[in-house]
Amino acid sequence: MLLGKELWKTYRETKAVKNVSIAIEQGETVGLVGETGSGKSTLARMICRLIPPDAGTITLDGETSVSHLNVKKFWKQVQIIFQDSNGSLDPRMTVYNILKEPLDNYISRMKKSERIQELLESVDLRFDISRRYPHEISGGQRQRVAIARALAVNPDYLLCDEPLSGLDTDTQEHILRLLIAIGEHRPFGILFISHDLALCTRISRRLYVLFAGSIVERLDSKNIHSAVHPYTRSLFEHIFEPEKKNVKTGTNFGIADRGCAFRLQCPQAVSLCKDEPAEIIIGAGHWARCHNPF
Ligand SMILES: Nc1ncnc2c1ncn2[C@@H]1O[C@H](COP(=O)(O)OP(=O)(O)O)[C@@H](O)[C@H]1O
Ligand code: SF4
Ligand SMILES: [Mg+2]
Repeated sequence: MLLGKELWKTYRETKAVKNVSIAIEQGETVGLVGETGSGKSTLARMICRLIPPDAGTITLDGETSVSHLNVKKFWKQVQIIFQDSNGSLDPRMTVYNILKEPLDNYISRMKKSERIQELLESVDLRFDISRRYPHEISGGQRQRVAIARALAVNPDYLLCDEPLSGLDTDTQEHILRLLIAIGEHRPFGILFISHDLALCTRISRRLYVLFAGSIVERLDSKNIHSAVHPYTRSLFEHIFEPEKKNVKTGTNFGIADRGCAFRLQCPQAVSLCKDEPAEIIIGAGHWARCHNPF
């Protein structure tokens, strides 16, 4: 299990992540949904040890302390795919060399070309693309190369930080189907991060909803219609029931510094909301942080 526990991160005066705990089991896909600026990337970067948390722990299969020396071993098990593959692939390297680099430490020379072919096939790319440079292929192909590179070391966990943003709908659909197929064929733990609730519920079994750096609700994706937090409800009704006008959160009045961060735009706010809400259990595997849930 990959576990981030009670994680905090502040950049100057911005509290980007506030006391977030999140668990990913091998073989399951977990969704993390939240709007831009809610702290998704900061959280993902802390979980894969690219940036240190101010407080909190990352535990991988029971092991919490990872020293500088074995962080490479950690990265063999935990890989991340970023939103902007253009920025994360070295423009001076061919696709072949991009995929060969992670293999260099783990696989014999004889088998590399075979493995690269296999990796490209797993993301629906032909081997002849391996001679090209990142700028010579499309955005969707680049993102698939980034996925192939993450798969190269046979990781146990894959963190996908908005992997479909900036791609056209057909390409998004193609890559989403690929990720679903990859998740079905190998016992990965996948954290799928998106601002798009519909995408997250499609790919994941469990869902965490992030608002202003805090998880406000956790539930099974199949029960998304039973969401109780006003913020999750607003996302849900916006996508699945646009004809309903129960939740009027269209006007963004900002984020409250104290108490519930959502209270300035919440239609359910009560005087108690000036105090920080605690987790309340709604049902099996379902909790929300709210004083007055639906
Ligand atoms: N390196 C940084 N320096 C300063 N502020 C940052 C940095 N990275 C992120 N932030 C701020 O932290 C908050 C969360 O950002 P981020 O984790 O990128 O959110 P998301 O991925 O959900 O869009 C935002 O307010 C953002 O401006
Ligand atoms: S705690 Fe209060 S302000 Fe926050 S979401 Fe719940 S009802 Fe709305
Ligand atoms: Mg982000």
